[in-house]
Amino acid sequence: MKYGHFDDAAREYVVTTPHTPYPWINYLGTKDFFSLISHTGGGYAFYRDAKMRRLLRYRYNNVPVDAGGRIFTINEGGDVWSPSYFPYRTDLDSFETRHGMGYTRITGSRRGLRASVLYFVPVQGNAEIQMVTLTNESDHVKTVNLISFVEFALWNAEDDQTNYQRNLSLAEVEVEGGAIFHKTEFRERRNHYAVYSVNEPIVGFDTDRDTFLGPQNGWDEGVVAHSATSGNSIASGWYPIGSHNLEVTLQPGESKESVFVLAYVETPQDAKWESKGIINKTPAREILARFDTPEKVEREFAALKNYWDDLLDVYKVDSTSPELDRMVNIWNQYQCMVTYNLSRSASYFETGIGRGMGFRDSNQDLLGFVHMVPGRARERILDIAATQLPDGSAYHQYQPLTKRGNDAVGSGFNDDPLWLILGVAAYVKETGDLAILDEMVPFDNDPAQAAPLMEHLRRSFNFTMDNRGPHGLPLIGRADWNDCLNLNVFSTEPNESFQTAPNREGGVAESVFIAGMVAAIGPEYAELARLMGDEDEAARAEASVRDVVEATERHGWDGKWFRRAYDYYGNPVGSASNEEGQIWIEPQGYCVMGGIGLEDGRAVQALDSVRERLNTPHGSVLLNPAYTQYKVELGEVSSYPPGYKENAGIFCHNNPWITIAETMVGRPEYAWEYYKQIAPAFREEISDIHRLEPYVYAQMIAGKDAIRHGEAKNSWLTGTASWNFVAVSQYLLGIRPGYGGLIVDPRIGAEVGEFTVRRSIRGAEYVIHYLNTHGGGNAVGDEGGFKPASLTVDGAAWEGNTVPYAPAGTTVAVEVRF
Ligand code: GLC
Ligand code: GLC
Repeated sequence: MKYGHFDDAAREYVVTTPHTPYPWINYLGTKDFFSLISHTGGGYAFYRDAKMRRLLRYRYNNVPVDAGGRIFTINEGGDVWSPSYFPYRTDLDSFETRHGMGYTRITGSRRGLRASVLYFVPVQGNAEIQMVTLTNESDHVKTVNLISFVEFALWNAEDDQTNYQRNLSLAEVEVEGGAIFHKTEFRERRNHYAVYSVNEPIVGFDTDRDTFLGPQNGWDEGVVAHSATSGNSIASGWYPIGSHNLEVTLQPGESKESVFVLAYVETPQDAKWESKGIINKTPAREILARFDTPEKVEREFAALKNYWDDLLDVYKVDSTSPELDRMVNIWNQYQCMVTYNLSRSASYFETGIGRGMGFRDSNQDLLGFVHMVPGRARERILDIAATQLPDGSAYHQYQPLTKRGNDAVGSGFNDDPLWLILGVAAYVKETGDLAILDEMVPFDNDPAQAAPLMEHLRRSFNFTMDNRGPHGLPLIGRADWNDCLNLNVFSTEPNESFQTAPNREGGVAESVFIAGMVAAIGPEYAELARLMGDEDEAARAEASVRDVVEATERHGWDGKWFRRAYDYYGNPVGSASNEEGQIWIEPQGYCVMGGIGLEDGRAVQALDSVRERLNTPHGSVLLNPAYTQYKVELGEVSSYPPGYKENAGIFCHNNPWITIAETMVGRPEYAWEYYKQIAPAFREEISDIHRLEPYVYAQMIAGKDAIRHGEAKNSWLTGTASWNFVAVSQYLLGIRPGYGGLIVDPRIGAEVGEFTVRRSIRGAEYVIHYLNTHGGGNAVGDEGGFKPASLTVDGAAWEGNTVPYAPAGTTVAVEVRF
């Protein structure tokens, strides 16, 4: 069952009913000011940091989930409704929400009146624009009240939820015409305020929530909404809001627009006040003046469209599969940009008051956006590397406002250092900018300890090599990629976080997964050293990688698949000899990606075991059999009920590793099948089972042991976005940057018989046309294995599959026959 449809030409998903299983959201904002907005207008806005600079309040664990947020009320002679359906739930004659690239348009109509609200954050300017268009579709004159509403948060979103004894005495506002200024705490240490304003004359306003709603009323019972008479209230403490009341008269067929602006404004520290107690409104007037007519708003909206056109122009496919095209060209890349902007901070599953930016997360996110914004990727790399510790290990998280490592979470996640190498390698391949490796970057944000970025990579590599266990495999530390595999934690305290609980210094627990990372990522380090002219270092690194690969072949192989780890006592985890958790997905993906077992058949065998034991129609579960009881020596993984999260959920982040691995062993049919199982556009038809947005990936889909198998959770902010984009763009469509040229190596199932990719890189454009001349079927099960495609470049036959980088400004035509 579906709740809407894709409009690819407009790059929109159109939700056609308010009654989705969960709020289906979108993000507004590209740089500093961000909003979350659901298809029924819920959500909130913040400036840069969702916790510290929250403009609008969001109610956690709310019932219904999405009540509050932004409300536009229409009162036509006592008939009260909202184009976004909530909160009145009055029947609408039509309803539609279009989520596009950085904007959302919600349209509802009732009794001949159509109300459409366009929400967006402009490319320049810290504001959420809400342009309301009312159209009289009836044959008689209509006069209605249009009443706006937002509820302000008292800036620090966590404090706002908890510290009532202070907060409920703080609120202060000023009102000047149609501009409502929220200035709580401005009198003391803040030099910023919010303003909510409208460009048309108003007949009333409110800033006090109890006056607007009535103290005992629910959202749908508001006094002002139902009486159409504003209280002109001035908040003093309690709950400050912003509401305007407009009276609009429309002739038959007539349309009128009004522009509401919610802006974040900073004043210079020495110019905070206009006069005693009256805030300096000059900077607010400047931003409001930029959006005070519909024409100006349309211009800014066009600029936003251009902004996204440019970003999405770098990698485009035109294939025989519409679902593939819309994932690759629109939604997967869009989600990668959103995760770039927000990391794991604010979604309908991440509260915006929780964790900072992850070291491993940010490096992997980079893989999905580096081609769109290489300059910003460069900055991000330098920020991340500056939080690395001098011994090569890393703070697991850092705070975006301070860019400093987070002591509260600390370090000891032994996969972290290697991800920095992967991120830097992706950046260098994309740009050719080797100079970044000479940049001086502090350790632990201490400028006295600065060293070239290449030295950071060396310490990442060495840290992994120097911290190996009894089998010669890397020690796991607190956890590796799987935050929930806590082999040294032994937590028995109910309120303790597995991420921060005391960790035993065992020196025994090892990770086969990190060994796979060494095999896959170590050679990138060696290659970078070689490109920097350090042949000895490259050779040393390659020898170390070989050591780890040999140790993995000897001690990481269980007979039919790769083991997962060795625990604190040196017992295998992820082995047929275990009762539960016999096979885990991560090492099957990463060891094969590192090339282990490609030659001797073990890679194929491992992937066959994944197919047999882990795969389901909804994707591949993380492990099998699921843990049915808590195991103190394994940690958080066994804390989840079977089938959820790391305990045998379908973790969509690691499924693309299997997809990539299948292309590497030459089984594109399986790769394509796995890609489709979790790609949201291919799951649209089962939206009633999947339940979350069919246009973006979720972190997890409940696994086969779960009661709600197939149900997604944690949409939007997940490394799933970048890894699936890597899998589809670089391995299925097969176009990936190498150090010396663009690698063209499509390995996609026969269902996609033909495609053209346009890829811009280093200033040149490559037009790559692929045709499957087999006319169906390919290497799966073929005797004799997989035959790579053959290429022509600008009409001439080409050996191999690396097309050298062409001069900027040129276009290269590549023909691929499979
Ligand atoms: C979450 C974390 C990520 C981790 C994954 C698996 O997505 O953000 O860092 O790798 O869970 O535990
Ligand atoms: C929990 C989650 C995991 C996440 C971690 C850190 O362990 O299961 O996915 O990575 O918390 O936030």
